[in-house]
Amino acid sequence: MSTLSQDDLKTLVGHAALKYVVPGEIVGVGTGSTVNKFIDALASMKGEIKGAVSSSNASTERLKALGIAVFDSNEVDELSVYIDGADEIDGHGFMIKGGGAALTREKIIAAQSRQFVCIADESKLVETLGKFPLPVEVIPMATQRVIKQFRALGGAAQLRLSNGIPLVTDNGQHIVDVTGLQIADPLAFETAVSQWPGVVTVGVFAHQKAQVCLLGTASGVKTLTF
Ligand code: A5P
Repeated sequence: MSTLSQDDLKTLVGHAALKYVVPGEIVGVGTGSTVNKFIDALASMKGEIKGAVSSSNASTERLKALGIAVFDSNEVDELSVYIDGADEIDGHGFMIKGGGAALTREKIIAAQSRQFVCIADESKLVETLGKFPLPVEVIPMATQRVIKQFRALGGAAQLRLSNGIPLVTDNGQHIVDVTGLQIADPLAFETAVSQWPGVVTVGVFAHQKAQVCLLGTASGVKTLTF
């Protein structure tokens, strides 16, 4: 039986990701509890990198507090690597993301990066995406329409609340979480839902999938490549 907690596994993969950081360059940094471990580890090589592009205000604050420069996405052309967590990842490197509501900026940075390295504990590895509630960032005016569209697909969708009121993302939008979906074809699903009016970003990352997953397991870090 493993003596490693889920938190230990996150720390392990957060450290393991350091070897993908390219000295002298800017690194793409995601959001979440696993990425926080990576950011803390990254402080040990802050003198070797130019800085980071960050996917959320929370990660930006953490990076800056550790003395790591944060660049705007528009100031940077292509990034060698983007390091981020996931809510689910399958055997193709397709993911569900957005549990921390940062999916839109995450997808933008993933798109400008040559390689997506996903860091996750083994509970995130699934056969088929859809057990974790799928986050979708929406323009508030479209919320009810989007909820109805998911209902027609057999899902149950609800507006995400924070302290009893609709959660507002870093981009000033809302999040709808969808349960009851089995996403058999993530590429087609992402393409279709992305076109619904009022959808800003769907939390399926198939077009911006991971190329590498550092998976924290009871027997250490397993490297999956896709
Ligand atoms: C943030 O919006 C998400 O996409 C995160 O990457 C995801 O929720 C993983 O977070 P944890 O590392 O906290 O599980």
